[in-house]
Amino acid sequence: MSDFTSNFWSVYVAGITVVSILACLLLLWVTGKAKATTASDNTTGHVWDGDLREMNNPLPRWWAWLFVITIVFALVYLALYPGLGTYAGKLAWTSSGQHQTEVDKGNAETAPLYAKFSAMKPEDVAKDAQAMAIGERLFMNNCAQCHGSDARGNKGIPNLTDNDWLGGGTPEIIKADITKGRIGMMPPMAAAVGTADDVKNVAQYVLSLSGSPHDSVRAALGKEKFVVCAACHGPDGKGMQALGSANLTDNIWLHGYGEAAIIAMINGGKTNIMPAHGDKFSEAQIHVLASYVWGLSNKGGVAAK
Ligand code: HEC
Ligand code: HEC
Repeated sequence: MSDFTSNFWSVYVAGITVVSILACLLLLWVTGKAKATTASDNTTGHVWDGDLREMNNPLPRWWAWLFVITIVFALVYLALYPGLGTYAGKLAWTSSGQHQTEVDKGNAETAPLYAKFSAMKPEDVAKDAQAMAIGERLFMNNCAQCHGSDARGNKGIPNLTDNDWLGGGTPEIIKADITKGRIGMMPPMAAAVGTADDVKNVAQYVLSLSGSPHDSVRAALGKEKFVVCAACHGPDGKGMQALGSANLTDNIWLHGYGEAAIIAMINGGKTNIMPAHGDKFSEAQIHVLASYVWGLSNKGGVAAK
């Protein structure tokens, strides 16, 4: 209702509500009165099915009182709760307020638990079964839609259970990734590389970095052109986590394996976005969630390969 720019609709809606209730009262009053009848046997003269006659009796008392009670209920309800236009009601109840109260209650109940986890190192939180159960639920509700319920990712979305990181896999970096999100940005590079043939050669060189099957003549030619890539991926192609550039030597392919996929990367570039989640969670929740994610690739404190 607060969306209205003037008072008119509020008054209009409240007016209809009040008039409707008064009309109910009027109806009750009118039908409650005994009608003048011309017939001596108290029938109205209406006959159905041969011999079914309508009598001219007033409403039963109990029925009339039920009607009155519903009207009184409506008036009391409208005084206490929102219902009359924009009038908020004496109790000032709102659905969002009720939701907030429940959220606050839940937060107050879990506060001591989160305080305990916040005081622990992420490496220790990752060993706590209760914290990991909470972390898993947070992950399933907020991260699994992209990273998968097993956290192994998908094309373009990193696997979080291996130890191959675009940004670095320390709990602090994972926390920053969750809070601020990530943007992996590789510009289209074809113009900088040269002709389509040069692009193919560089792609073959990239394949050679991970020991994948490749054309060694083309790879040798592509190596020279790789200098334009080295600015981000490093001279050895191992990537730079500060830039979020992928390691090209590990045979883990976020954007697809093979010459065609690499050529597509060089020609088209890629802007890969992980949305920020800082507003969704409390700091303590991010602490537990980051510990959970860290634990996925460090089972029992031992780093995965
Ligand atoms: C809309 C899809 C989406 C959602 C939701 C999402 N992510 Fe991501 N996430 C991505 C993408 C895409 C990347 C890769 C970003 C890049 O290229 O730098 C990524 C990257 C990451 C990274 C860095 C991986 C690395 O290799 O450095 C971490 C950690 C991460 N996500 C954790 C999470 C957690 C925890 C959640 C839940 C709070 C989450 N993500 C929710 C899409 C998503
Ligand atoms: C300005 C920095 C930058 C330059 C220059 C650059 N890249 Fe990238 N590259 C990136 C980033 C960042 C990613 C990771 C994208 C993401 O987050 O998903 C990437 C990803 C890739 C991938 C995908 C890796 C995978 O796991 O699927 C390939 C292949 C690649 N780059 C090849 C190249 C080649 C070849 C060149 C040179 C022609 C090049 N890049 C130049 C920043 C760069």
